[in-house]
Amino acid sequence: MDSIEKAKIGDVPQIHKLVNSFASKGDMLARPLSEIYENLRDYFVLKHDKKVLACVALHISWSDLAEVKALAVAETYQKQNIGTKLISACLKEAKELEIPIVFCLTYKDVFFEKQGFIRIDKMKLPKKVWTECFHCPKFPDCDEIAMYYVIKEGAQIG
Ligand SMILES: CC(C)(COP(=O)(O)OP(=O)(O)OC[C@H]1O[C@@H](n2cnc3c(N)ncnc32)[C@H](O)[C@@H]1OP(=O)(O)O)[C@@H](O)C(=O)NCCC(=O)NCCS
Repeated sequence: MDSIEKAKIGDVPQIHKLVNSFASKGDMLARPLSEIYENLRDYFVLKHDKKVLACVALHISWSDLAEVKALAVAETYQKQNIGTKLISACLKEAKELEIPIVFCLTYKDVFFEKQGFIRIDKMKLPKKVWTECFHCPKFPDCDEIAMYYVIKEGAQIG
């Protein structure tokens, strides 16, 4: 298995397939190919023999905030610490970019708690992050759990 790396343009169809396989089960939001291409520089992947086994994206929302999104580990490879490594890659990049807080919207709150994320009332997230939500079929009845991770000591959300 290769190490985690930034995604390349040729990985997009596989990222799309992986994310949407879980989206069809209701685990996460579906993402169109166009959105993955447009935001490719956000993505990390873990590959083996050119096959994408897992992915995640760190998307900058505002001056003090970035979102972890599109986290997916192929079923056969789950529970092998890959999700943890992908989150570490996002947190490392956020730190390098001097982004003080990272957040996520998820159904996998126990997993994110294990990564050090803390639950927060969704309404406390800044309005800027709702841009994507307006396009979500679930809006305004979102049932995802909002969580955040403080990169810069003392930083506060909202
Ligand atoms: C959620 C997901 C990314 C976790 O990836 P993973 O590689 O299996 O996670 P890890 O092996 O790094 O697990 C780290 C810890 O979280 C726990 N964990 C992982 N998934 C969990 C889940 N669904 N519920 C509860 N705990 C979970 C593991 O047991 C492990 O605990 P431990 O450290 O006490 O042993 C993966 O299950 C997945 O891709 N699921 C489908 C898509 C999805 O739901 N994505 C999240 C969208 S926000």
